[in-house]
Amino acid sequence: MVLYRKYRPKSFSEVTGQEHIVETLKNAVAGNLLSHAYLFSGPRGSGKTTLARLLAKAANCESARGPTKGEPCNACSSCEEINRGRAIDLVEIDAASNRGIDEMRELRDSVAFVPAKLKYKVFVIDEAHQLTKEAANALLKTLEEPPAHVLFILATTEAHKMIPTIASRCQRFDFRKLTVPEISGKLAEVTKAEKASVNKEALQLIALNAGGSLRDALGLLDKVLTFYSILDTKEPIGAAVIKDLLGLVDINLVGEFVQLLADKKAGEAIDFLNKNLQAGMDPQEFSKNLVRYLRHTLVLSINPELSHIFESELTPEQLERMVQQASQFSKDLLPNIVENFMRAEQEMKYASIVQLPLELAIVESCAKGLPADKVGE
Ligand SMILES: Nc1ncnc2c1ncn2[C@@H]1O[C@H](COP(=O)(O)OP(=O)(O)OP(=O)(O)O)[C@@H](O)[C@H]1O
Ligand SMILES: [Mg+2]
Ligand SMILES: [Zn+2]
Repeated sequence: MVLYRKYRPKSFSEVTGQEHIVETLKNAVAGNLLSHAYLFSGPRGSGKTTLARLLAKAANCESARGPTKGEPCNACSSCEEINRGRAIDLVEIDAASNRGIDEMRELRDSVAFVPAKLKYKVFVIDEAHQLTKEAANALLKTLEEPPAHVLFILATTEAHKMIPTIASRCQRFDFRKLTVPEISGKLAEVTKAEKASVNKEALQLIALNAGGSLRDALGLLDKVLTFYSILDTKEPIGAAVIKDLLGLVDINLVGEFVQLLADKKAGEAIDFLNKNLQAGMDPQEFSKNLVRYLRHTLVLSINPELSHIFESELTPEQLERMVQQASQFSKDLLPNIVENFMRAEQEMKYASIVQLPLELAIVESCAKGLPADKVGE
């Protein structure tokens, strides 16, 4: 079984991040204060479907309104049925593939009947923004007068594409991207449970490349562990293995390069670039990472407090270093430098000497604001 399925949380306490959503839902279950319709919106792999299933389970659990205080007990018959994927009263509709009005009509009709076994009939509608207009209208009719035994949970990555009349009938929760520490923490738990040994730096590197999605992070970890299992070694997996395997460029390397730009050391920057290319660094991957790094620097140079924007892409230590570096660039020149390297990234695709556009960008970025005779020092 793939890791992200195997480690899908079975109770609210196992959910990573999204604290305010988890708390509110648990309290609503415990206090018997559930709404009839919820809208979970937010980035991919952040826990929407996971929490929709947890809510379906908690709402139907025999203990959640009592002793377990909002948590599904995972022991009663309805919890078990849902855990085994056998509950006929839990209907999951993927609007991306089932866009048809027929499903919604069927839904509208079946809504009228009381649940077969569970307390609530729960409809989880994934990718809800992709419902066709007709299907959405059929759903809307149901949402206008929902029977007491029905619970709707709509999930979407694109809330702005939802029909407003539907969205306004739901209690809305906005999920956020998971941060690097949250993701690497979860990865550490999973590797331990899998009895694999992956060092902290390596896990952090995976987290950094997951774009805030725990599903993607677990997918990357899957690849790494599969690779590890065919290697016959007891050595813990380190960052170097991850970089090779996933074709990643080390962010510290990019940081060193940017420091040379900040110091206006054109000659050293060109030397650094060529040495690393000779050592096998991928030029496209490098320039992609460089532009991303410079974007961070640019934003942080406006105000270090904007670092919250990058919490899912950078570790706290990296953020601190970038804030420090950002202050070393002159504010008027930084936009030019970003532009130079953005252009280089494009031009590299057609250049016969692949690093030449980068070298030009280095020279231009280090020349401005310095007397000509100092360039290259
Ligand atoms: N907040 C989270 N806490 C714990 N595990 C999570 C969380 N978010 C995602 N996961 C892991 O990633 C997997 C996929 O998550 P989920 O299906 O809930 O994402 P999603 O938000 O519905 O994404 P999508 O928009 O792509 O459908 C889960 O099985 C689980 O292993
Ligand atoms: Mg989902
Ligand atoms: Zn239960």
